[in-house]
Amino acid sequence: MSKEIVVSGIRSTGFLHLGNYFGAMRNYVKMQEDYNCYFFVADYHSLTTHPDPKDLRGNVYRVVAENIAAGLDPDKVALYAQSDLPEIPELYLMLNMLAYKGELEKVPTFKDKVRQQPENVNAGLLTYPVLMTADILIHKAVKVPVGKDQEQHIEMARNFAGRFNGRYGELFPEPQPFNFGDTLVKVPSLDGAGKMSKSEHGNATLYLADEDDAIRKKVMKAKTDSGPTEHNSTMPEYIQNVFQLMNLVSTSEITESYRAAYNGCTIRYGDMKKQLAEDMVNFIRPIREKAVALQADETKMMAVLRHGAEKARESASRTISEARKLIGINYY
Ligand code: TYM
Repeated sequence: MSKEIVVSGIRSTGFLHLGNYFGAMRNYVKMQEDYNCYFFVADYHSLTTHPDPKDLRGNVYRVVAENIAAGLDPDKVALYAQSDLPEIPELYLMLNMLAYKGELEKVPTFKDKVRQQPENVNAGLLTYPVLMTADILIHKAVKVPVGKDQEQHIEMARNFAGRFNGRYGELFPEPQPFNFGDTLVKVPSLDGAGKMSKSEHGNATLYLADEDDAIRKKVMKAKTDSGPTEHNSTMPEYIQNVFQLMNLVSTSEITESYRAAYNGCTIRYGDMKKQLAEDMVNFIRPIREKAVALQADETKMMAVLRHGAEKARESASRTISEARKLIGINYY
């Protein structure tokens, strides 16, 4: 039986963090054995915020290096830069004709961006979910490993796929968001508000490139309080967040012992955070060290990207000629 097709991407904006790891990269690494995987650096998507051209190459290499350091094997998957597949912008253009201004304006991530950067509400931001759809459909993916924040974008990709099929004929399967485990992951930020993210809350986000001491400092500053006063009381969200982070990197015995201490009102958050900080350091350090070494090896980074692009182009060119034919772009 042929393997199911998987596509996912990470924007080359800023540093990768624990949310990227547990929402996306951990799934990539697990999926590489049993699926036909296409993982890419979304460098076109990063242009929506107008990065300095001098930074692009380093940013792209960092995403590649951090993924390999996290366990991704570029011989088992296609690991490539989005901009290496001209078929993606071509499919994006076709899909843009099927996407409506009204529905794009309603997307919550677009509304957030309008609030965050009112001086730069460009058309690329508006059609961001259409470009994502092209990324996914260009390989006819059925599974898209992503964090919770991307769920709505994948739903739009399903809609656009259906719309294309309805108008021109069956070509694309409907992609589903994917996570090992029941639900999509949202890794919370350390300040008790929102999620870890590349662009916001530098002190509340743990980056895979953070040095040991920076990790310790950030974790020790995580929001807590003086502790519960009644047995088995409901946890405030910011305390749930600390437990959630502990769940990701500490053993279940350790997490359960703190949970019991919480329920019995004997918990000491200072001790809990010290434990979490050490477990976090032990988790991030090997990834950071490997990534730094890889990123410095430019010859290797170039070879990985070139090889990945070759693999990905094969399936992309097949899909785009089928799409052209169905649309009627087929003149000689
Ligand atoms: P990006 O680069 O913001 O994030 C990459 C991946 O990390 C996940 N993620 C999180 N998961 C859990 N908790 C968090 N705090 C957290 N923060 C980020 C994201 O859900 C994502 O899976 N638009 C995408 C990139 C993209 C893409 C695609 C993804 C472009 N084309 C096609 C899938 C398919 C983005 O900006 O992700």
